[in-house]
Amino acid sequence: MSEHEIAGATALVTGASRGFGRAIAAALSRAGAQVVGVARDRAALEELRAELDGSFTPVPADAADPVVAGELIDRYRPGVLVLNAGATPLPRPVQHHTWQTFSRNWDVDVQHAFGWTREALLAPLAPGSTVITLSSGAALRGSPLSGGYAGAKAAIRWLTGYAAEESERAGLGIRFVSLLPQLTPATDLGALYVAAYAARQGDGPAAPGGPPLTPDLAGQAVTELAADPGYQEHAYVLTAEGLRPLA
Ligand SMILES: NC(=O)c1ccc[n+]([C@@H]2O[C@H](COP(=O)([O-])OP(=O)(O)OC[C@H]3O[C@@H](n4cnc5c(N)ncnc54)[C@H](OP(=O)(O)O)[C@@H]3O)[C@@H](O)[C@H]2O)c1
Repeated sequence: MSEHEIAGATALVTGASRGFGRAIAAALSRAGAQVVGVARDRAALEELRAELDGSFTPVPADAADPVVAGELIDRYRPGVLVLNAGATPLPRPVQHHTWQTFSRNWDVDVQHAFGWTREALLAPLAPGSTVITLSSGAALRGSPLSGGYAGAKAAIRWLTGYAAEESERAGLGIRFVSLLPQLTPATDLGALYVAAYAARQGDGPAAPGGPPLTPDLAGQAVTELAADPGYQEHAYVLTAEGLRPLA
C-alpha cells in the first residue's frame, strides 16, 4: 500500500479516544483514509468525529471482546489495522500487585492483540494490508512499577512476529509489524509512569533523554509505515526521531 493508496483505504484504530491512538486516527484521516475508531469512551470518540468530519466512524466498544473483533473485521476489512488499545496498569512495586492487577495488560492488551490478529489472518485481510500492534520499549527493559505490563508487551511483539511468519508461509501478503515506543510524558499512561519512576528515584519528573515522543509524531510514524511497503521488519523501536528496526 503506497501513500497514494492510503487515500480512500479503510483504516481501523483501537484505542482511538485519546493518546497515541487518537493521533494515529487523525494522521491516517489526514492522509485520506476512512478511519474507524474503537474505544469505550463514546464522548471522546464523538469529539474526534466532529474534528475529522466525515472521514471518521466512531465505534464505542471493548476492543478486547473477541466478538467485537470478529464483527468489525467482517464489516470493514481494513487495509490498515492499528492495534493500539492498552490498559493503564497500577503504578506499584510488584509485591503491591494482586494477580488480577498484575495480569491486567494480559487481559486487555494481549487478549485484544491476539483476537484481532487471529481474525486478520483467518479473514484473511486483503494482500497488501498492514497490521500494526503497539508493544513497548518496556518489553526490552522491563517496567518494575507496572506489574505484568512489560511481559504483556513482549508477548505482543512475539505474537506479531508469529503472525508475520504465518502470513508469509501462507502467501497472504499481510504485513504484521509491532512498534516499541519509548516512554513519553505526552499521554495519560506515559505521564503517570514518568511521574511514578521519578518519585521512586526521589528526583523531579524524569523521562528518557532527548525530545519526547509526542502523539502527533507517533501518528506520522504509523502513517509512514502503513504507506511504505519498504518497512519489512517485524518490529521497530519508535522514538521522537522516528522508526528504527529492532536490532
Ligand atoms: N505512552 C507511552 O509512554 C507508551 C510507551 C510504550 C507503549 N505504549 C502503548 O501505546 C498504546 C497507547 O498508549 P497511550 O499512552 O496512548 O495510552 P492512553 O492515553 O492511556 O490511551 C489508551 C487508549 O486505549 C483505549 N483502551 C483501553 N482499554 C480499552 C478497551 N478494553 N477497549 C477499547 N479501547 C481501550 C483507551 O480508550 P477508552 O478508555 O476510551 O476505552 C484509550 O483510547 C498502549 O498500548 C500503550 O501500552 C505507550
